[in-house]
Amino acid sequence: MIVPTTSIRPARPLLRLFSTTNRLQANRAFVYSQNGSPKEVLTALTYPSLSPPPPGTLNLRYLLSPINPADLNVIEGVYPSKPSPSSFPNLSSQVFVAGNEGLAEIKDVGSGVDGLQVGDWVVATKQQVGTWASARNVQASEVLKIPRTDGLSEVNAATITVNPATAYNMLTDFVDLQPGSWVIQNGANSAVGQAVIHIAKARGLKTINLVRDRPDIDVLKQELQSMGATHVLTYEELEDKKSLKAKIQAWTGGDEIRLALNCVGGNSTTRMAGLLGQDAHIVTYGAMARAPLSLGASLFIFKNLTSHGFWVSRWYTQHGKEDRERMMSELVALMSEGKLAEPKHEILTIRREQSDEEATQAVRAVLDKMLSGQSRSKILLRIEEPNE
Ligand SMILES: NC(=O)c1ccc[n+]([C@@H]2O[C@H](COP(=O)([O-])OP(=O)(O)OC[C@H]3O[C@@H](n4cnc5c(N)ncnc54)[C@H](OP(=O)(O)O)[C@@H]3O)[C@@H](O)[C@H]2O)c1
Repeated sequence: MIVPTTSIRPARPLLRLFSTTNRLQANRAFVYSQNGSPKEVLTALTYPSLSPPPPGTLNLRYLLSPINPADLNVIEGVYPSKPSPSSFPNLSSQVFVAGNEGLAEIKDVGSGVDGLQVGDWVVATKQQVGTWASARNVQASEVLKIPRTDGLSEVNAATITVNPATAYNMLTDFVDLQPGSWVIQNGANSAVGQAVIHIAKARGLKTINLVRDRPDIDVLKQELQSMGATHVLTYEELEDKKSLKAKIQAWTGGDEIRLALNCVGGNSTTRMAGLLGQDAHIVTYGAMARAPLSLGASLFIFKNLTSHGFWVSRWYTQHGKEDRERMMSELVALMSEGKLAEPKHEILTIRREQSDEEATQAVRAVLDKMLSGQSRSKILLRIEEPNE
C-alpha cells in the first residue's frame, strides 16, 4: 500500500503498467500515488473495463464530477478526510483516485442489491470515493439514488451532495429562521454562496451578500441579485462603518441579523460579525482567505454571539439514511421546481481520443488556474470512455 505523505516531490512515471491485452482499455481516471501539488502529482490513467460487480456492489459510470476546492486540499494531503487506495489490474501498485463528488449512472448491479437498478442515477454518500473516473465499482450501501425527474439536470445532480447540502443545513441547523429573517454571508458568489441565495429566496429569507471587488463588480452584483440576493456589497464597502450601519438599518427596518455564514475568514469576516444583532450565530465553513478568524470579545460578552464550524462530511457521518434521503428529496424538489439553479459552471470534457498525457495536461491546467485564484466558476469533469 502507498502511504500518503505531505512532501512535495516532482511528478515521476511511477505507474508501471501491465499488459492487459485480453481486456479493453475502456476507462480513464485521475490518480496520484503520493500527496503533493495537484498540478504535479495528478496523472491520467487508462484502465480496463470493470469485471462484473461482486455481491452487494454496483458498477458505476461517472457522468459528471465537480472539482471542488477541498479536492485540491485532499490531493495536497492537508484535508482531514483521506481516500483509501485503489488497485487497478494494469498497475503494479495502489493509487488514490481523486474526487469526492459526482453523478454516476448504474451500469451493472451485483447480487443481493435491493432498490437499485441499471440506469438509475446515484451519488456517493461516503467521502472520498474517487469520482474523477469514468467507471468504478462501489458498495451499494455507499450511494443514494437521485430521481431522474424533469427539471433536474446532470449538473444539478452532480453538485448536490456538497454545496447545496452545506447551504441547506447551515440555513436550518443553527437559527430558527422565519420568512423575512435576515442572513448575511461572505464568499457569496461561491457555489455554496449561490446555493444559499437560492434556498434563502425559496424560504422567503432576506440575504446580504459580500463579495470581492473586481472591475466588473456591477455585473456580478446584478447576477447575484437575479438569483435572489436581496443586497450585494463588496468587502471594501464594509470599511465605512458608520454609513454601512445606517444603510443596513434602512434595509432591515431595524430587524437584527441573527445568522452569518463565513466562507472566507480574515479581517472582512471580523467586520461582517460586527453587523450581527443580539444572540446571533456565525457559522464558519470555509477559509478561502487562508487567514485566521478574529472576533471581538464584546460580541460574545454583550451580544451573546455563538461561533460554530460546519463540515458537511461530519453532517453525513452524524445523520442516518432517513435524514440524508429527506434532505436530498428536498434539494431535488427545489432543483426540479427551478428554485435551486445550477451553479455557474464550465465543463471540462476529457475526450476519448486524448492520450493520457494530453488528459493530464488538460486537468493540470485547470487545477493551476484554480490554485492561482483565476477560476471564476465551478468546473466539472466529464470523462469520455477512451474506447466508447
Ligand atoms: N465546510 C463544508 O462542509 C464545506 C462544504 C462546501 C464547501 N466548503 C468550502 O467553501 C468554500 C467555497 O467552496 P465552493 O465550492 O463554493 O467554491 P467556489 O465555487 O470555487 O468559490 C470560491 C469562492 O472563494 C472566493 N475566494 C477565493 N479566494 C479568496 C480570497 N483570497 N479571499 C476572499 N474570497 C476568496 C471566490 O471569490 P472570487 O470570485 O472573488 O475569486 C469564490 O467566491 C471552500 O473553502 C470550500 O472548501 C466547505
